[in-house]
Amino acid sequence: MGNPLAGRDIIEIPALSRAEIDLILSTSRDLEARLERDRRLDLLQDYILATLFYEPSTRTRLSFEAAMHRLSGRVVSVSEVTSSSVAKGESIDDTVRTIEQYADVIVMRHPESGAAQVAADAMSVPLINAGDGSRNHPTQALLDLYTIEKERGGIDGRTIALVGDLKYGRTSHSLAEALVHYQARLLLVSPSELRMPERIRERLSEHGVHYRETESIEDAMREADVLYVTRIQRERFPSPADYDRFRGVFQISPDLLSRSAHDAIVMHPLPRVDEISHQVDSLPQAAYFRQARNGVYVRMALLALVLGTV
Ligand code: NCD
Repeated sequence: MGNPLAGRDIIEIPALSRAEIDLILSTSRDLEARLERDRRLDLLQDYILATLFYEPSTRTRLSFEAAMHRLSGRVVSVSEVTSSSVAKGESIDDTVRTIEQYADVIVMRHPESGAAQVAADAMSVPLINAGDGSRNHPTQALLDLYTIEKERGGIDGRTIALVGDLKYGRTSHSLAEALVHYQARLLLVSPSELRMPERIRERLSEHGVHYRETESIEDAMREADVLYVTRIQRERFPSPADYDRFRGVFQISPDLLSRSAHDAIVMHPLPRVDEISHQVDSLPQAAYFRQARNGVYVRMALLALVLGTV
């Protein structure tokens, strides 16, 4: 099979077929194995990545940059958007049309849902969406799939609990959209005010995904193989008082985990606030730092695939 992702944008999970997701995951596995032998590969020598972040980020930006460096590519960055031309009123279209003159691929994060598509439409080099508003975070979902496969030996047949702010959390949205390709069961654990948006629940139903909504973390302890815990997305709430009603609503502790019927692993896209106790970190079920490392392999695969060098 050729590489159907060469030259493509990665904007949202529904635009990827199951075969394309499989290709991304198998390329990630291959690059991880090669990186164990050589600390650096030369697949992207002579290529430049531009990162353009209109929202704060440490891990996503750093892991894309590390991925590019591991493939011998180079990186130029705009992280302080407030000190750039955007602060002078430049439109996204003009910004990306200019930046594509300097780089072969752009990774962008933006606070507005839909911004990634607007940017991609304005330019011709591949754009990888590193999060747009509360809607999509496709590269996170891919590294989450990779982590579940690696940690649990597969995704089919597993029960995956998405826990926390399912209304505003873009990582849960993209992961749920990706799981329609597998025979997994989903448990959607959130306060009723922060439930998974209807458009995603409809998508799950259309694909025949077995899912159940609950407010009880105890349900997750009985049923789940994977606890995918997320932060309450403070910055997306209309007011601080609204956020305060939900902060600390779920807290994963060693005691709670000891009641897990299936020895569930704990994942988290990070950053965590207070939803996982630090005492969990040293337990073997704590998968979130391994998950962050997997992000480098999956982003290496994505960069090499859209640039057509694998
Ligand atoms: C997530 C994000 O930006 O949506 N972070 C990340 O990319 N790892 C999760 C979050 O901010 O809660």
